[in-house]
Amino acid sequence: MAALASTPGVLLSADGAGKAFDFDTPYSRVGTDSIKWDAQLRTFGKDSIVAGMGISDTDFRTAPVITQALNARMKHENWGYLDMPRSFTSTIISWNKRRYGIEIHPDRLLLSTGVHPSIVSALRAFSPRGSKVLMMTPCYDGFFGDISAAGCVVEQSPMKLADGRYQLDLEELERHISADTKSLILCNPNNPTGNVWTAAELTAVGELCTRRGVVVLVDEIHCDFVTPGHKYTPYCLLNNREVVMNSVTFKSASKAFSLSAMKCGWMYSDNADYLARIAATGHSGDINTLGIVATQAAYTGGEPWLAELVAYVDGNHTLAEKFFREKAPLIRYVKAQGTYLAWLDVSPLIAKLGAVEKAAEATRKRPASARPITPTMLVQNYLVKEAKVQINPGSAYGLGGETRMRMNLATSRKTLALALNNIAGALGRL
Ligand SMILES: Cc1ncc(COP(=O)(O)O)c(C=O)c1O
Repeated sequence: MAALASTPGVLLSADGAGKAFDFDTPYSRVGTDSIKWDAQLRTFGKDSIVAGMGISDTDFRTAPVITQALNARMKHENWGYLDMPRSFTSTIISWNKRRYGIEIHPDRLLLSTGVHPSIVSALRAFSPRGSKVLMMTPCYDGFFGDISAAGCVVEQSPMKLADGRYQLDLEELERHISADTKSLILCNPNNPTGNVWTAAELTAVGELCTRRGVVVLVDEIHCDFVTPGHKYTPYCLLNNREVVMNSVTFKSASKAFSLSAMKCGWMYSDNADYLARIAATGHSGDINTLGIVATQAAYTGGEPWLAELVAYVDGNHTLAEKFFREKAPLIRYVKAQGTYLAWLDVSPLIAKLGAVEKAAEATRKRPASARPITPTMLVQNYLVKEAKVQINPGSAYGLGGETRMRMNLATSRKTLALALNNIAGALGRL
């Protein structure tokens, strides 16, 4: 694909020297039916994008140990029904023990084809149709779909914003709990804001929910991506036993190891009754052979690769923060505490583009039943047209996302540099 010319004088340094794994060489995903690249090219047109930085997966080759394990399994050419190897759950259990100090009892683990299906099953277990499911927003847009798939209604409790950082607003959260609020979905680290919640914060939310009879569904799929100075606290390790017993945690190797389409995940809880209720919804743990092979390989030999990946992504965060501050101040970025996502404040750009007025005008021209056009959708279109960079409109992430865009930094530094330079070039022409 042709790249837009870089803005003169906007250069980015690359590190990566002396590392065992190569994250620096761009790895094209175009032509693999990827949502991050191919789906955007289908939406915006051929050659419209040189940097797909939207959907939340990484652009890297997966860890070499995973590819080796998959290649070895591919040599046997029968794909009949699988007798789930016992070693699979024990691999998940050992990884969680070794890496995070979590003790999962084998009977307290349910397999799943991913976090989404797990959350939908949990909502079916705890939240009757038509009841409210609480979320602290901005939060991951996929949860909106899960809540609707379970026949429930979203209840948004916006977080507080101070000094560019999102913070818990417990009073606000409690105001949103009513008799028909049965579950809260909590994301740690939080997609898209990048908050890594502390033990005190998690406990405060957990105590409130336990007191009000709200089950806490904890999505920790991004837990490996934590920037230096912050610490991932597994919810199930909180000191308050009652709080822990009122929760279910959801995980997968997919974010860390680029395995999303392998459709393999799991959930665990110390509360046997909660898991039994989820299982009783008809929840399916029928995962596929390749997903199992890949996840096992990740969890037995992938740690050195993951350590380098996490450091690399941290470098991308640092670089993006500095770049926006120095070269593209119409976009503000305060470095995330976790995830590989940058939650950008584009309010100055929205003002400069007159996007609020233009979005209102575009919405007026649409049928009343159509989805409204938001200012950040127009920012997305603008950046595709002028910079050939696709990033996600913040309006998809609920209340508090109206002036934000989510940029996925899990890509090679060359692709990141191209995206940043193109954005700076476009803003410079405004
Ligand atoms: C916070 C969060 N939860 C869940 C998912 C999706 O998980 P899965 O692919 O396992 O269904 C994503 C993917 O972007 C995510 O960011």
